[in-house]
Amino acid sequence: MKMRKITDIKELRGKRVLLRASLNIPLKDGVIQNHLRLKRTLPTMRYLREQGAKVVIIAHIGREPEETLQPIYEELLKYLPIHWGGDLTTEGFRQRMELMSDGDILMAENLRQHEGEEVNDPDFVARLTALGDIFVNDAFAEAHREHASTYGVALKLPAYAGLTLLEEVTELQKVMQPQHPSLFLLGGSKFETKMPLVEKYLELYDQVFIGGALAHDIFKARGWEMGKSLVSEVSLNGAKFLESKKLLVPIDVIVEGPDGRQIKTPDKVTKDEKIFDCGPMTIDMLATYIEKAKTILWNGPFGAYEYGYMQSTEITARHIAAADAYSVLGGGDTVAAVEKMRINELFGFVSVGGGSMLSYLEHGSTPVLDLLQDK
Ligand code: 3PG
Repeated sequence: MKMRKITDIKELRGKRVLLRASLNIPLKDGVIQNHLRLKRTLPTMRYLREQGAKVVIIAHIGREPEETLQPIYEELLKYLPIHWGGDLTTEGFRQRMELMSDGDILMAENLRQHEGEEVNDPDFVARLTALGDIFVNDAFAEAHREHASTYGVALKLPAYAGLTLLEEVTELQKVMQPQHPSLFLLGGSKFETKMPLVEKYLELYDQVFIGGALAHDIFKARGWEMGKSLVSEVSLNGAKFLESKKLLVPIDVIVEGPDGRQIKTPDKVTKDEKIFDCGPMTIDMLATYIEKAKTILWNGPFGAYEYGYMQSTEITARHIAAADAYSVLGGGDTVAAVEKMRINELFGFVSVGGGSMLSYLEHGSTPVLDLLQDK
C-alpha cells in the first residue's frame, strides 16, 4: 500500500494542518494509565511544528460525551508547547486560531462531545474542514472508524498519512508476510467478529493459538460443558477451520467454582464453574512454539484481565520478549500488560491499534486508510 505522506508535502510553512491524532488513552482518576499512544503522536507533531505549519490537533477520548481531553493535553505539554483551544465549534476557538503563528499547535476538546463526529455528519465535517488547508491522519487506532474526523474530512481536504500511521502500516504489512515458522496468538472475546481473521491466519501462519474467551467457543463446539464461562453469541458447530492441524487451544484452564480455584483440562469443566485463564501446561506449550518461531503476531489477552487473571498473558509476553522472533503485538490490554512490565522495548513493534489492528490484519486496509492511498 503506497500512501501520500506528510513528508511528500513540499511547503508546510504557514499552512493550516488539521491533525487527527490517536489520544484515546486510558485514564484513572484523571491519571494516564499508559503512555504508548501519547508518545507515538509526538514525532508527527514535532515534524509539523519544525516545518512551520499551524497545527490543529483533533482527537477523541472515551465513549461518553462528557469525557475531556484536558488531562491528555496537560501531559502533552510536558513534551511540546501546545495551546488548549477547547470546543472547536466556538467563536473563542476561531479567534484563537487567528492568533496562531507558524509552528504553533492548538488542541481541540474531545470530538465525541459532538454527535456529528461518529455519524460522519456533513455539517460537522464542514466545521472540521474549515479548520485546515491540509488534513493529516496520524490516528491508526481509529483507522477502522469511518467518522467525520477520520473519513469525512479526508474526502474534502488534501489528505496525508502521518508518521505514526505510516509506521503502523509498514510494520503490519511485514507480519502479513511472515517468516516461518510463524505463530499467531489471538486472545480476547467475540468470535462473531474474529472468525474471518482466524480463517485467514490459519492460511498465512504455521500455528494459530486461540486463547481467552474465544477458546471457550471452540470447546463448546467440541461438545464440552463450559459452565458459567464467557461464550460468544455465534456457534462454531461444524466450522471447517476447527479441523485445521495448525489450530492450537489451551490444554489446561484455571476455573473458579464451588470447589474453589482449580487447574483442569477444559473437557472437565462443570456447570457451576467458570474459566478465567489458561493454565501452566498451556503456557509451557506456547513457550516451545515461541522459542522456534521467526515471526510472532499477538493481539488480545488470554486471561480475564478485569478479574486480575494476568498470569498467562504476562508470562507469555516475557517469553516472546526473550525470543529471537520478530514480534508484533497490539490491543489495549496486551499493550497495557507489556507497558506495566516495562518490556515494550523488547518487541519488534507494539501497535497502538486494537480493533483497527485486527481490521487491518484481516483486510490489508480499511476505508479510512484507502483515502490516504496514492493512486
Ligand atoms: C481504540 O481505542 O480502539 C480506538 O481509539 C477506537 O475507540 P472506540 O472503539 O471507542 O471507537
